[in-house]
Amino acid sequence: MSTPLRVGIAGLGRSGWGIHAAYLRTAPELFRIEAVADLIPERVAQAAEELRCRAYPDAESLIADPDLDLVVVSTYNPTHAKYAEMALRAGKHVLCEKPFGLTVADVDAMAAAAKAAGRVLVPFQQRHLEKDFLKVKEICESGVIGDVFRIRLCWHGFGRRWDWQTARSMAGGNLNNNGPHVVDHAVTLFGDVLPDKVWAEAGGYLRSGDAEDDLKFILQGAGHPTVEVELANVWACGQERWTVCGTRGGLHGSDKHLEWKWVDFDKMPPRPLDLHSTPDRSYNGEPLEWQTGTWDAEDATANLGAGAPPPPGPTQEFYENLHRVIAEGAAPTINLAQARVRVATMEKIRAAAGIPAKA
Ligand SMILES: NC(=O)c1ccc[n+]([C@@H]2O[C@H](COP(=O)([O-])OP(=O)(O)OC[C@H]3O[C@@H](n4cnc5c(N)ncnc54)[C@H](O)[C@@H]3O)[C@@H](O)[C@H]2O)c1
Repeated sequence: MSTPLRVGIAGLGRSGWGIHAAYLRTAPELFRIEAVADLIPERVAQAAEELRCRAYPDAESLIADPDLDLVVVSTYNPTHAKYAEMALRAGKHVLCEKPFGLTVADVDAMAAAAKAAGRVLVPFQQRHLEKDFLKVKEICESGVIGDVFRIRLCWHGFGRRWDWQTARSMAGGNLNNNGPHVVDHAVTLFGDVLPDKVWAEAGGYLRSGDAEDDLKFILQGAGHPTVEVELANVWACGQERWTVCGTRGGLHGSDKHLEWKWVDFDKMPPRPLDLHSTPDRSYNGEPLEWQTGTWDAEDATANLGAGAPPPPGPTQEFYENLHRVIAEGAAPTINLAQARVRVATMEKIRAAAGIPAKA
């Protein structure tokens, strides 16, 4: 059995406390929380008492702790790249929350620091391991519904929001908030390369800050499916999360249930072009023999929609992989080249929608 990695968590909010500490304290054979930091003294005091670990008033002093192997950066969006680089330079491995920096320049600076320090740097993209996404990917890649040419992802929710995630000065807004997850899904299904063309539109309707709560973008490129995404907190009548069109059929459904159907055209008569009127004045068509498939989530606590906390299962799988990456040199869930493509796609979305990268 390998020695548990000594972890420090910088930022103890919904993510640092609610996701990272919540998982890490359940896996003492792999990870031991040795230190925590937060700007809010009560959060540090509570965590240090419950976890019996060292407490720091800010990320900088936690990063300077010499007895840590891994630093989790779960502070506000604009500070991720700064603290990740600082921790790498201090000789720690880093798990950095999304957004994984705000620009490609941020990613490159973090990656250079990781290389120079010989330490592992991984973006926390745990939703890359969500079961519905993985099933959709498997069906698209299998060819069962033919060549996939159009994919639509809807992360629709409805509700007001008034915290820092709605303010541009804090790099809030849907693109930086849930955007990295849905961009990851979209880019993966697009083919894991930077799309040639990106169309995007952003609006703000129900939020109290000045950042977008309504985002739509389309990724396009020759030889790739067109991927259309709506990530919005303003859809009272939300649509299905997944719709996929292929040349033999299609798929649709949610994070809990997926259905797909296809026709085997090879078993049907060939239909060469006929430029005459149909002999019986019928509208051109034929009966289709559909074959069907379904999938149901095993986990009843699967995601509840845009704005809901993420499900815990992928976090556990993500961390188990991270331990193997650090201890055994295994491949990470998302490598730095893939992370760079995702952040570069976000840059294109920002440019197309007129969203400033930094306030
Ligand atoms: N991967 C996911 O599913 C997921 C889910 C939620 C949040 N996040 C990400 O986690 C990050 C934090 O978001 P949140 O929802 O937890 O916010 P939050 O407001 O709930 O918590 C942020 C915490 O960080 C602390 N903090 C800020 N600057 C700090 C510093 N310099 N030193 C120490 N502590 C500092 C704040 O005091 C606060 O307690 C964001 O970047 C967000 O995008 C990711």
